[in-house]
Amino acid sequence: MFGQERILLIFVGFLLCSAVVSQIPLGSKLSVVENNHWSSSNGNFAIGFFNRLDQYSIGIHFNSNSIPIGQQTVVWVAGADLTVGDKSYFQLTQNGELVLFDSTRGFVVWTSKTTNSSVASAVLLDSGNLILLNRKQEIVWQSFDTPTDTLLPGQNLSISQSLRAASRNSMSSYYSLRMDISGHLQLRWESHVVYWTSGNGIHSQSILRAILNSDGILQLLDRRSKPVWSVFGEDHNDSNVKLRFLRLDVDGNLRLYSWLDVLRSWRPVWQAVENQCKVFATCGLSGICVFNASSFPVCKCPFSSTTDSNSKCLVPYGQDCKSGFIMTRYNHTFLYGIYPPNETIVQTSLQQCKSLCEKDPLCTSVTFVNDGTAQCQITKTQYITGQSDPSLSSISFVKKCSDPIAALPISPVHDTSPKKLNRLCIPCLIGVASCTIVVFFLFQLGIGFCIYKQRNYIRTKAALAYTGPNSNGLITLSYAEIKDLTGNFKHRIGPNIFEGMFPDNQLVAVKELKAGIEERMFRCVVSKIGTIYHKSLVKLEGYCCELNHRFLVYEFAKNGSLRQCIENRKACKRLTWRKRMEICVTVARAISYLHTQCREFVSHGNLKCENVVLDENFDAKVSEFGLAFDNGGAADEDVKDFGKMVVELVSGCREADNVCYWAYEKWVKGEAESIVDGRIEGMKDLEELERALRIAFWCLQIDGQTRPSIGEVIKVLEGTLTVDPPPPPFICGGREEEEELSESGPEL
Ligand SMILES: *[C@@H]1O[C@H](CO)[C@@H](O)[C@H](O)[C@H]1NC(C)=O
Ligand SMILES: *[C@@H]1O[C@H](CO)[C@@H](O)[C@H](O)[C@H]1NC(C)=O
Ligand SMILES: *[C@@H]1O[C@H](CO)[C@@H](O)[C@H](O)[C@H]1NC(C)=O
Ligand SMILES: *[C@@H]1O[C@H](CO)[C@@H](O)[C@H](O)[C@H]1NC(C)=O
Ligand SMILES: *[C@@H]1O[C@H](CO)[C@@H](O)[C@H](O)[C@H]1NC(C)=O
Ligand SMILES: *[C@@H]1O[C@H](CO)[C@@H](O)[C@H](O)[C@H]1NC(C)=O
Repeated sequence: MFGQERILLIFVGFLLCSAVVSQIPLGSKLSVVENNHWSSSNGNFAIGFFNRLDQYSIGIHFNSNSIPIGQQTVVWVAGADLTVGDKSYFQLTQNGELVLFDSTRGFVVWTSKTTNSSVASAVLLDSGNLILLNRKQEIVWQSFDTPTDTLLPGQNLSISQSLRAASRNSMSSYYSLRMDISGHLQLRWESHVVYWTSGNGIHSQSILRAILNSDGILQLLDRRSKPVWSVFGEDHNDSNVKLRFLRLDVDGNLRLYSWLDVLRSWRPVWQAVENQCKVFATCGLSGICVFNASSFPVCKCPFSSTTDSNSKCLVPYGQDCKSGFIMTRYNHTFLYGIYPPNETIVQTSLQQCKSLCEKDPLCTSVTFVNDGTAQCQITKTQYITGQSDPSLSSISFVKKCSDPIAALPISPVHDTSPKKLNRLCIPCLIGVASCTIVVFFLFQLGIGFCIYKQRNYIRTKAALAYTGPNSNGLITLSYAEIKDLTGNFKHRIGPNIFEGMFPDNQLVAVKELKAGIEERMFRCVVSKIGTIYHKSLVKLEGYCCELNHRFLVYEFAKNGSLRQCIENRKACKRLTWRKRMEICVTVARAISYLHTQCREFVSHGNLKCENVVLDENFDAKVSEFGLAFDNGGAADEDVKDFGKMVVELVSGCREADNVCYWAYEKWVKGEAESIVDGRIEGMKDLEELERALRIAFWCLQIDGQTRPSIGEVIKVLEGTLTVDPPPPPFICGGREEEEELSESGPEL
């Protein structure tokens, strides 16, 4: 009897427990508008949308009753820096995939990629881990595997994972925490400067993962889960502390926080870099780090020669200083360069160190590390940062132009708000239904052509134009007609592009695509791009889809492609500095239109100088857009391609593997002017040049997430948004790959 009762009790208990574990069924949805959320069964955590820089993100945050709303820290965000519009939603789809749909861009911007994993439900665990379970109740995906800037108790950090500090904006430098291949934790600035390492000197071969445990101890564990290195928060053994987290903060320090109900606030109980001023570039562009009278780290610019409120701290010496210079001494000060961080270190004396800098025209400052090593660090960048403290023995000298006017200018911010595009996209997609209709009518038309096949069918454009219901106004042409209007492909005006003429004497450009692109696909794409109208997008006039032949007929641009103009001496004269900058902005606006203002997101897919054409006024129009199929990831590819295009346009160089690297190196050395195409005559706006190059290099970042959006690019080009100097690692080249792509036509 007694035993049976126990079993019953256990059974009831089990029922209660499983009722509390709040399973999230397939189809469940969270939206910005409803402001709803899913919470963990203990109520400590919840997932929902939250406000971020005028936009929204979806994330897991503390939700415990004892924590006031303002302190319900976010611990995980889908897509890290990703923000979405105010009608967005987050859903566990019937296919078992978590998706984040952005109402601004009109497509899914983040997914858990679990359609093939037979997901049956989701659960937000009491630990703050959001998991997806299959029918066998196995975990197939968990938020703990893609940490953002925070580790929660019980969460592993292994070699392939990293924490990344939130950025102030998508174009700021960033800090990250990762485990290097030898198993040590490292704090890094951008991708390569390491400023803190855990547990040096440990035999690290066996380290497998780091974990924050619930007692507030951060540990490195070996394969047998034995700790080989540990750090303890100052309250690690305090059982009153219920909630903890480890976060890589915006200032680059890694801190362990505890919640104490009595204090009603998060309290840092450990930080990795004890002296905040020793966090690399902690002051960024704002100068050097010092502790104020109440021991707070603050940023100061002791050598600033301007009173500009812009708060950026540049060295008071530039390449254009012609009047000579003076060296100013700063005791107890350690300086180093950023953008890029690359010091030359030599061993010498204090006097020698100073004179080395005086003799080197590129040197902007030196630091003599007066710690017995006799090291002299020579800095050649315009941006200097560092620290100053009475306990430091380093002595620095900063070069200062004796003629203050010649000091480098600091970019002012113009307040020219971007002009609104005033044309709305006419329905950018005619769905599969209309494709079917199109196919049907084409079939009929095809029969018609078979019957009346003759050579003089192209009488007028109107006579040919297919104008059925829901017509997109495109002309459909047979292969014979294409041959006819191009004069049997007589005038080749670009790779696979021919000049042609309609019977009404309207010139057109005829682009031949890869044969055998699947017909239905081709027609759908054509009907989609056929309805996109924008003054800076080349209009599609018609197409041919017959047997294996695939042609697109575009409006004709008198001055050919941007590539041809750059390479043609006469045409190039028209490409003044002003014109080139105008072209950049025009192209960026056209891409932005495709990305954000069509009913459905359209990526360009193959943006380059060959695909930008110039009309009779040398106004740019973007061509061959929307021919690559795309699932949302390609927005940053367009941005990357745009960056490359800007570098080519500014330098006038044929795209070679190394033109971006070459330009970057010149820019780093402060020789930005030498990048500019020598054929450009007259005044160049140096501020504008700096802006264009910076944004181009940001567009070229390897990590798609650090690339700006095309909207941000426009603002920077127009001068309404300032931008940090870009870090070095970026993509360039890949020319061969693309050549192949363009030869074989777009991917359909
Ligand atoms: C899912 O499986 C199908 C068929 O095996 C495959 O074509 C598709 O690429 C897979 N999708 C993902 C996201 O892995
Ligand atoms: C952490 O890693 C260990 C060892 O690989 C594993 O057993 C455990 O399930 C992991 N924890 C989480 C939350 O993934
Ligand atoms: C925590 O540990 C410290 C020393 O490690 C000890 O002095 C203190 O009493 C302990 N506190 C509790 C609550 O156990
Ligand atoms: C030091 O800086 C902190 C933070 O900016 C500020 O709150 C404090 O008042 C400053 N103290 C002094 C003495 O200036
Ligand atoms: C730096 O220290 C030297 C030697 O102690 C001293 O002569 C000099 O005046 C100091 N400079 C400044 C700016 O304090
Ligand atoms: C750093 O500077 C040295 C010497 O000036 C140069 O050889 C090296 O290429 C530079 N490295 C980077 C990453 O810029």
